[in-house]
Amino acid sequence: MSAQIRQAIQSLPIMDVMEIRALLETDALAWWQLRLEALRNEPFAFGKTVEEHMKISVEEIARRLKSLKENSIYLGAFDGDQLIGKATFIRETGVKDRHKGHIYAVYVSPSHRGKGVARAMLTEMIEGAKQDPSLEQIVLVAVTGGNAQKLYKSLGFKTFGTELRGLKVGSTYIDEDHMVLRLR
Ligand SMILES: CC(C)(COP(=O)(O)OP(=O)(O)OC[C@H]1O[C@@H](n2cnc3c(N)ncnc32)[C@H](O)[C@@H]1OP(=O)(O)O)[C@@H](O)C(=O)NCCC(=O)NCCS
Repeated sequence: MSAQIRQAIQSLPIMDVMEIRALLETDALAWWQLRLEALRNEPFAFGKTVEEHMKISVEEIARRLKSLKENSIYLGAFDGDQLIGKATFIRETGVKDRHKGHIYAVYVSPSHRGKGVARAMLTEMIEGAKQDPSLEQIVLVAVTGGNAQKLYKSLGFKTFGTELRGLKVGSTYIDEDHMVLRLR
């Protein structure tokens, strides 16, 4: 995210008491805790386990937040001081792949679902990405047929491939759709 875009979405009110903003190093603990909640609540929605997450320190998350490269951003949705939603956009940095970015780790706490929080976060990400003419597409992976995929489709993402049995959670296999949004 360019400096101007980052500044523009630094504090974006979406409802009376909620706001969406770029997360800072000082938000590392809140992000770490919400990621833990996400992995505990939704084991079929994400590629990592609680145990894997526990090996990542809050300091490591702070380091990641501090060292984000161009266009990459961790967005958070807040109800007052409480982080209740998150989504990550990471832009590739290589000469041959910096025209694209990935959306990861989209999550909204159950108490705040169905109010447009995820849609608002992703819309901000997409609008931010559109400001940079050298960013051409956004890719992501979604559980085939899940609620998140409905959201991604409604934002214009198209499935370009399905990996059957992309995840194995215990003895349950999860199919995953690979989706792309062309920005230009
Ligand atoms: C998917 C998720 C992020 C949606 O968050 P949310 O803030 O409740 O979503 P929104 O209120 O912004 O809804 C946006 C769209 O998502 C879809 N959606 C969300 N919840 C849905 C549900 N329970 N049933 C059907 N569609 C649903 C709809 O298309 C909805 O659009 P609409 O309001 O116009 O119908 C949230 O349910 C969540 O965190 N789920 C578990 C984690 C997950 O699956 N993450 C994605 C990993 S790929």
